[in-house]
Amino acid sequence: MRSEEISVKDIDETRQGEALEMTTKTGNGRKLYIESYGCAMNFSDSEIVASVLIDEGFETTKVMEEADVILVNTCAIRDNAEVRVRGRLNIFRKAKRNKPDTIIGVMGCMAERLKTKLLEEEKLVDIVVGPDSYRDLPNLVRVAESGQKAVNVLLSRDETYADINPVRLGGNGVSAFVSITRGCDNMCSFCVVPFTRGRERSRDPESIVSECTQLFANGYKEVTLLGQNVDSYLWGGGGLKKDIIARGDLTGTVSFAELMIMVAKITPELRVRFSTSHPKDMHDDVMYAMAEYENICSYIHLPVQSGSTRLLGLMNRGYSREWYFERMAKIKEIVPDCGLSTDIITGFCTETEEDHQDTLSLMEQVGYDFAYMFKYSERPGTAAAKKMEDDIPEEIKQRRLAEVIEIQSKSSHISNKKDLGKTFRVLVEGTSKKSDEMLQGRNPQNKVVVFPKENYKKGDYVDVVVNECTSATLIGIAAK
Ligand code: 5AD
Ligand code: SF4
Repeated sequence: MRSEEISVKDIDETRQGEALEMTTKTGNGRKLYIESYGCAMNFSDSEIVASVLIDEGFETTKVMEEADVILVNTCAIRDNAEVRVRGRLNIFRKAKRNKPDTIIGVMGCMAERLKTKLLEEEKLVDIVVGPDSYRDLPNLVRVAESGQKAVNVLLSRDETYADINPVRLGGNGVSAFVSITRGCDNMCSFCVVPFTRGRERSRDPESIVSECTQLFANGYKEVTLLGQNVDSYLWGGGGLKKDIIARGDLTGTVSFAELMIMVAKITPELRVRFSTSHPKDMHDDVMYAMAEYENICSYIHLPVQSGSTRLLGLMNRGYSREWYFERMAKIKEIVPDCGLSTDIITGFCTETEEDHQDTLSLMEQVGYDFAYMFKYSERPGTAAAKKMEDDIPEEIKQRRLAEVIEIQSKSSHISNKKDLGKTFRVLVEGTSKKSDEMLQGRNPQNKVVVFPKENYKKGDYVDVVVNECTSATLIGIAAK
């Protein structure tokens, strides 16, 4: 994995636990501190929560010790994500001993999964709020301040927070996340997300275009459209995706490709990215839109999870190894310069050595630019937890993960070497972490590119000729 990368999926590696800097507005003096863990959607949700509470008169702080309300936005996707959050909750608990009026709230997927358990059995928090109940936070804070239990974990059929203008937290001022769908209907057998984030619904395209237009007016140059499965986006006046489909008439609806074109048309100066795609729903119209609009970046994150058709069946992914190869071939045909990344899980239930070899061979054949690789972690309540045995020993999961990582780092290096001598349009995100004399940005394929600063600055588009690389980074110089 590339070390200088801060992309949608590895935020938890790079910004995990970081207190996010927030815009401060006038308020009634109560101070709010938010920590975010997990996926980009959580970081985006924290921006909605900050907006809701600032409207209520809160001020934000980066200093946990001075907070009146501490919120932690949590991830439940793997057990280790929850272990980390529990560690933080214990630290907040200790801080509360010095300042007993402090309200501690847990929000996000772990709140939804554990519901009242953290509040009643473990007495770790004062507020428990699920992903669809953030509008209720002002009320929940009041309830908690009055000494009562404050819980709202109701999942919604239509909440998309479309009308809430997120307060941008701690980003680089160049690139922002914009949520386009909430929830997930896929029910991959290993995944807890459909249980913690509810049914899939899409956000009104006009509110998306208006948010992106506003971002550009505020100096942003790149938006990443976010959803658990963006290809599945379907606007039909609101409500659950399944209800729109059940109507049987898609006249007047807006698809993901159409939405992306609407955003791309705002201005060619605004780059458009998206995450995450699903192989079973990745249609050609999305690829044609990418080929046609230069500002839609040539990069697709297409999680495969496993290279074995048998395992893909057990995972309920809805496609085979062959289908995945066919989608890859189509991408390469329509968007030849497309950057590609994936997610891999090792050691899923019943995974044999042969299944594992299938994953390795798929990775070699595709040659991903980067990948996010995980050991299977059984999640309570999922189909896999209910119907299958988590039967692959830890050492085997670990060894297979190491083999997957090894293939990926070779593949990343090969991919980067192929870019030597090429010129890429780089959107500058800031100064390089390793040298003040260098700037850092990304090319359309989402690779990190580092080059000498000269007179360029954050937010500029610069054509950079690549003349060196590591497995994580392209290094070059501005083209003259
Ligand atoms: N164990 C390990 N990895 C998981 N993911 C989702 N659920 C699990 C699990 N139970 C991974 C998948 C998904 C990414 C976001 O997290 O690879 O694409
Ligand atoms: Fe989880 Fe599958 Fe939905 Fe992704 S598509 S959030 S892995 S259920």
